[in-house]
Order: sequence, then C-alpha cells, then structure tokens
Amino acid sequence: MASSANQNINAKLVLLGDVGAGKSSLVLRFVKGQFVEFQESTIGAAFFSQTVAVDDATVKFEIWDTAGQERYHSLAPMYYRGAAAAIIVYDITNQASFDRAKKWVKELQAQGNPNMVMALAGNKSDMVDGRTVAPEDAQTYAQENGLFYLETSAKTATNVNEVFYEIAKRLPRLQQTPNPSGMVLVDRPAESANSASCCS
Ligand code: GTP
Ligand code: MG
Repeated sequence: MASSANQNINAKLVLLGDVGAGKSSLVLRFVKGQFVEFQESTIGAAFFSQTVAVDDATVKFEIWDTAGQERYHSLAPMYYRGAAAAIIVYDITNQASFDRAKKWVKELQAQGNPNMVMALAGNKSDMVDGRTVAPEDAQTYAQENGLFYLETSAKTATNVNEVFYEIAKRLPRLQQTPNPSGMVLVDRPAESANSASCCS
C-alpha cells in the first residue's frame, strides 16, 4: 500500500562505456526483459524509460543509452549533463573496455554532476571462461572512486534489475523536514523583487 511518505522521483540516467560492452543489451533487458545475440551498435543515443519501486520511493528512470563508438564521444556531455545517475559498463572479457570505463569515470568526475550516483557494471558475467578483468581489480577501483560495483549479464539477466534498484535506493530524496526558520523558500514574483531594489 502506498504511504504518504512515498516519493515519486524522476531521474535522468546515462549509460556509458566501450563499443560492444553491452549498454543497449542491459537497457533492453531492464526495460523489456529481452536479449538479442546480435544487438546493433547504437548510433548517437537511444532513449528509454522505466519505473522501479523501492522502499520509500517510486523512481522513474529516464534512460539515455549512448553510443560507444569513438566518433560519438563529443555528444556524451549532452547525455550525462544533469544526470542523477550513470552506469559505466565494461565487458569482463575485454581489458580495453575496462580501461575505457575508467576514462569515462574520470570524465564524469571532472565534468558531471558531483552528486551523481555511479555504478560500475562488469557485464557478460555469463562468459566467465573468457574473463580477463579480475573482479578484485574492479571492486578496488570502484571503492577508490566512489562507485558501486556489480557484475551483470544482460544475457541471463543476472544483476540487471539489481543495478537499477541499487541506484534507485541511493538517489537523494526530496527534503521532507519542515523548514525550521520559517524562511520563504519560494522565489518572490519578479515585480516585488524589482520594486524592493529599484533606484533612480
Ligand atoms: P554500442 O552501442 O556499440 O556502444 O555497444 P553496446 O555497449 O550497446 O553493446 P550491445 O548491447 O550492442 O552488445 C554488444 C554485443 O554483446 C551484442 O552482440 C550482445 O548480444 C552481446 N552482449 C551484450 N551483453 C551480453 C551479456 O551479458 N552476455 C553475452 N554473452 N553477450 C552479451
Ligand atoms: Mg548500444
């Protein structure tokens, strides 16, 4: 049953990561519960939305699935600017994709919203035989950089919903404490502000 304390939160979320890491596949799994073996490489970016309910909130994710191809790199700021959350995806069988993930984290740390909730997703966890990125390395890196880390598989659905739930739980909640000083928090209309400060 919905309580009055339950909040509706809209959250812009961006997926970043190397070509073929599985960004689109994770989104397709999360939004539609599907997986395709031959997912086409994303051109530009694609938009999706999906809602998840956690304990105290219903979070509507507005998801930007970006293209990993280098020629689209310059578009990325349009998608991560103002984002409340990011999932940085690499492929556990591809060390270069882990290096690329670290570069994305650096870029977000330099240019992104400082309060952004960041997840590091080591995708294709079903392909353990081909693993080249050790989970310990990813875990250590994530801890040192303030991300949370999960290994996912878009193919088997392992940990896919979990990444989004964990983000939903970590998003800042709207301030609900009553305003103690009685200050007016809503901006005054322009005309009263003008009349108070007007001069000659
Ligand atoms: P770009 O759009 O080019 O940046 O790539 P992307 O990160 O969106 O990767 P995409 O989702 O297109 O996946 C690339 C390939 O990896 C596809 O053939 C997928 O089927 C496959 N793939 C994605 N996730 C998984 C996974 O968890 N396990 C396995 N085995 N294959 C996966
Ligand atoms: Mg894609």
